[in-house]
Amino acid sequence: MKGIILAGGKATRLYPITKGVCKQLLPIYDKPMIYYPLSVLMLAGIREILVVSTPKDLPRFKDLLEEGKRLGIKISYAAQKEPQGIAQSLIIGEKFIADDSVCLVLGDNIFYGDQLVTLVQEAAGLEEGALIFGYSVKDPQRYGVIGFDKNSKVVSLEEKPNKPKSNWVTCGMYFYDNSAPKIARKLRPSARGELEINDLNKEYLRRGLLKVKLLGRGYAWLDTGTYDSLISASTFIKTIEDRQGLKIGCIEEVAYRMGYINKKQLARLADAVPTSYGEYLKDLLKDE
Ligand code: DAU
Repeated sequence: MKGIILAGGKATRLYPITKGVCKQLLPIYDKPMIYYPLSVLMLAGIREILVVSTPKDLPRFKDLLEEGKRLGIKISYAAQKEPQGIAQSLIIGEKFIADDSVCLVLGDNIFYGDQLVTLVQEAAGLEEGALIFGYSVKDPQRYGVIGFDKNSKVVSLEEKPNKPKSNWVTCGMYFYDNSAPKIARKLRPSARGELEINDLNKEYLRRGLLKVKLLGRGYAWLDTGTYDSLISASTFIKTIEDRQGLKIGCIEEVAYRMGYINKKQLARLADAVPTSYGEYLKDLLKDE
């Protein structure tokens, strides 16, 4: 399975913070936001990853992540000239996906939970159809909302409805079989002028090929779309990291624990970061 991280858009809701800096590079406590979704892909066992962003911001991502070699993975880059919808990233990534299945994750989505690794590793085994995740929130009208029948079967997906049919909404992490780019190509822009990921998921639902896994209380799916949610996410990460002495979304640690890099490579990465972050990486070597 391949991975796509969509990290473009204008993030006008966070202006003026994001006027000069791309949203997915903003810090969430001690690391750039994109580290979180990237670490999830890596934990899923996905080692070929395409970062899609604006032509203006792509060089910044390349500075940060390079070709991924130092993490034992392969990162490539593609531009989305205009933010014409989340589903457009599958068209942009069509050649990259080639004959594979794909996990698309939004570069501003943060996932955390005890069973997350098992969850995404199982999801990465997907061969047919699509697998998406639902999460219960207090403000469902801001998201893609999942509707159920009386047997709890998923029967509808509505993008930002005024009257949400439930509190369950779709998260920004989607696993698709190889037909996703083809389906994306057939989508028509919505009223807001975007190729909606919700419409793509609806097509899988129509075909009877959509699985929705609901994430319960043991998971955190954090939003970073407002000033408040940005700081809440940082505080959440800081609280857990301080308490446990373990980092969340630490891509160097994940690369090491997944066996993508060896001790020597981790030591080199640690030396390159002259902060407590680097010290943490050094301590991992001592722990062994
Ligand atoms: O977060 C989950 C939600 O993501 C889903 O529940 C919705 O169904 C889905 O449509 C989407 O909701 P939003 O419309 O609120 O997403 P937003 O426009 O904020 O875009 C999400 C991220 O993707 C954001 O960081 C910007 C980036 N993006 C978005 C678009 C439309 C791009 O890089 N390019 C794009 O063309």
